[in-house]
Amino acid sequence: MKQHLIHIIIFFSLLASSCTSPKPTEVASPDGHIRLAFALDGNNRMTYRVDVNDTAFIALSSLGFLAQNGVNLSDGFRVIGTNFSSSDETWTQPWGENKTIRNHYNEMAVRLADASDVQLTLRFRIFDDGIGFRYEYQVAGADSLLLTDELTSFNIAQDGISWSIPANYDTYELLYRTQPISKIDNANTPMTFKTGNVYASIHEAALTDFPEMTLKNTGDKQFKSELAPWPDGIKARITGGNFQTPWRTVQIATKAVGLINSGLILNLNEPCALETTDWIRPMKYVGVWWGMHLGVESWVINDRHGATTENAKKYINFAAANNIEAVMFEGWNEGWENWGGTQTFDYTKPYADFDIKEIARYAKEKGIEIIGHHETGGNILNYEKQLDASYQWYADLGIHSVKTGYAGGLPNGHNHHGQFNVRHYRKVVQTAAKYHTTLDAHEPIKDTGIRRTYPNMMTREGARGMEWNAWSDGNPPEHQVMLPFTRLLGGPMDYTPGIFDVLYERAKKSKDRKQWNMKDSKDCRINTTLAKQIADWVILYSPLQMAADMIENYEGHPAFQFFRDFDADCDWSEALAGEPGEFVVIVRRAKDKYFLGAATNEEAREVAVKLDFLEKGKTYRAVIYADGKDADWETNPASYEITEKRVTADDTLDIVMARGGGQAVSFMPV
Ligand code: NOJ
Ligand code: CA
Repeated sequence: MKQHLIHIIIFFSLLASSCTSPKPTEVASPDGHIRLAFALDGNNRMTYRVDVNDTAFIALSSLGFLAQNGVNLSDGFRVIGTNFSSSDETWTQPWGENKTIRNHYNEMAVRLADASDVQLTLRFRIFDDGIGFRYEYQVAGADSLLLTDELTSFNIAQDGISWSIPANYDTYELLYRTQPISKIDNANTPMTFKTGNVYASIHEAALTDFPEMTLKNTGDKQFKSELAPWPDGIKARITGGNFQTPWRTVQIATKAVGLINSGLILNLNEPCALETTDWIRPMKYVGVWWGMHLGVESWVINDRHGATTENAKKYINFAAANNIEAVMFEGWNEGWENWGGTQTFDYTKPYADFDIKEIARYAKEKGIEIIGHHETGGNILNYEKQLDASYQWYADLGIHSVKTGYAGGLPNGHNHHGQFNVRHYRKVVQTAAKYHTTLDAHEPIKDTGIRRTYPNMMTREGARGMEWNAWSDGNPPEHQVMLPFTRLLGGPMDYTPGIFDVLYERAKKSKDRKQWNMKDSKDCRINTTLAKQIADWVILYSPLQMAADMIENYEGHPAFQFFRDFDADCDWSEALAGEPGEFVVIVRRAKDKYFLGAATNEEAREVAVKLDFLEKGKTYRAVIYADGKDADWETNPASYEITEKRVTADDTLDIVMARGGGQAVSFMPV
């Protein structure tokens, strides 16, 4: 286990002794600018409120749960004690946007009991970048508990602007809405908003055995937790009488990019549970994938089959020649003929034209990793039956990375985000870990930072990814500058960026092309410039980062040099500038190289970026992949320019972006 604490200070004392405005039920952030107060109301119901910079931020809001069979989890509680503590530690992780993270907070643990001896610890942690709290219940003598509702609310004190997707228990693949907080009907988390001068995002951390939390506006700006239900309406089933909930979190920052630079979600997850992590490494990859979405290849075996032995070797050769660590194949196994029907995939039976032993041997010879693929179509019963055997089978072939998919409804009325399926996703993570296998989950449960505990859970989808551009009206130009401030606050995303043939010119010429989804992709395209596709490799962080286009579109393309130079294993990151849905600039360091990505929405934009993140006293060769002078996402998306210059930490870079454009820069020490 690589995580080690460099420094820990824990002390137990009344905050009253260390804080200037002492109240026993209040706790403030280490820098004092965020304050949370807990109180029982006249009916002994639990409430909390939060002030930021001495201004009401979350007004009086309720806490607690409802349960069946007369079990009381919300009423008539009395405080039996309050413990205050602090922690300041720095820990490291095997991979991530930042490998070193500071965990610095003040904690208030309020211990409560009711007349029937239900015990509850409400644990509040206040950081300089937000708050988290969770419930730790002990119901003496209970064999099981059936939770029917969560009463947690977030009563946002002032109206403002917000960025979110609607609440939906089956999908996150939805478009973002920018609207006044008071106009939100319901939202999934992370729900990001700005009130006054404060940016914030409500989410959850450490969701491992509970339904997901969504938010419902029950008043003007009063958001109540709505948990994804089981088919019978129960929200959570607890074995025994003791349980602790995931953390309810609110990230808080004075700049929008402060939300991106926050480590709060990871800090509220448990340390690494795996004995070793040296088998886990970030990788760049290409794959047999986009051709299917464009309709020029197929998942199912036929004369357009994508995953053939011959094609697999072509992709392996391409990866080996272009400094790419891995190749992924979809449509390699039997069962695709049942996709959308019985969803009975077989995870150990390759199609006849996919000689997996030979492909695995060839990949090994070339030094390339294979990323396997398990599409379930939502049939998790069929998947669980084969779980151990399929991971063992892949491991025996030397395949230690798997992309999973849940494109289809779940059995027996379950939804994708309820407790039943959250348990399934965790079981897959644990099973994969047994075989030293890393995961990339599509149609996943939302990311709540469990990668800290299980670093083999590397990346996931969980938002509208690239695929939507192949067979729908596509993702609008604002989408990729929305994701870093919303979806990616939870963790990495396998967006699968980097389509170079933005108008699908090669695919449109192909006589093999067939419509397979809702919209014929003859009307489809990517709604960005080429330079923005390159920038997305940096902006949309994923430790498994794909160059998603068909390799024909990269061969001989000068701009592909960026991906060749790029390193998915970054050590440090910082979001330098941006506003949700408008633009973003992010820089990452990997060993001694830096990579910068900038992108804008449908408006052209110029941003001056100080290069003071570079190591002082060193000169770097900056290779700039910019929008061409006449570039425009609508009318001239393919226009780009590559220029080079020498720079140091004292320089400023003027980034000029076209409408729907972007810019990527690699900095290599000379
Ligand atoms: C949906 C996934 O997001 C996509 O990447 C995959 O190609 C299809 N399902 C088929 O598994
Ligand atoms: Ca998907």
